[in-house]
Amino acid sequence: MTASTPIETTAPWRVFSATASVYPVADRQAVPLGELASGAELFGEYTTNPETDEDWLKTVFDDKSAWVPRVHLYRIHPHNVTEGNISVGTEKVDRWWGLPLDYEPDDLVPTPVKHRVELKRDFPVRRATAEALVQMLEAALSDGIDIRVTSAYRSGEYQTRLYTNAISRDGHSQRYSAPPGHSEHQLGTCVDLTDPDDKFSFTEAFHDTLQGRWLEKNAGRFAFRRSYYPHNVKQTGYISEPWHWRYWGK
Ligand code: DAL
Ligand code: ZN
Repeated sequence: MTASTPIETTAPWRVFSATASVYPVADRQAVPLGELASGAELFGEYTTNPETDEDWLKTVFDDKSAWVPRVHLYRIHPHNVTEGNISVGTEKVDRWWGLPLDYEPDDLVPTPVKHRVELKRDFPVRRATAEALVQMLEAALSDGIDIRVTSAYRSGEYQTRLYTNAISRDGHSQRYSAPPGHSEHQLGTCVDLTDPDDKFSFTEAFHDTLQGRWLEKNAGRFAFRRSYYPHNVKQTGYISEPWHWRYWGK
């Protein structure tokens, strides 16, 4: 790649599902032009249908203008292709750029039991993330606020299952579950946080709990930032998530 070549034109989208149908128009009722197999690579223009809020890749298939539903695709950012762990804070993961599906950092450690919402699950995160997380959760405890981890590292395979279920349940326009490769949870630097009674897990109402308010005020001191706010829904492509915090390194 030369310095002046935009990476958009060099990094292909790839099919992660068993197959992906290719349509003549952005209409799932139309007869498909054909099918792409798992692992197929394609380039195109990312498009959101303004009526349905569904994402498509506008591409060319058999010399015809065609559309592939985004729900079958992922795209690896060239920066994320590494021999080992990606340096914390430099990872490029969002709705449009993702990780190799088999990327797994080799320094994952369990969240200490006292900070888990469920004792039996070990909620792994990368070592430096765990250190900062423990410092943050201990500081909260000193202020009388008990904050628990309810999700942490998720493999590409596990995210595929979550995403596929979300799409079956809520359709192609759902915006709460990231496609495989595109979840910040695969980095091992993100946690979903909640109250010890698990009452406000994964709810917007978590924002207004003692825990949610403490995090908004203090998480930055520990290099954690909330990824998804109401004001950046358009930029992130995901719903507001007061529970999801990403470690950016110190
Ligand atoms: N809920 C966030 C967007 C994820 O699935 O990673
Ligand atoms: Zn999350």
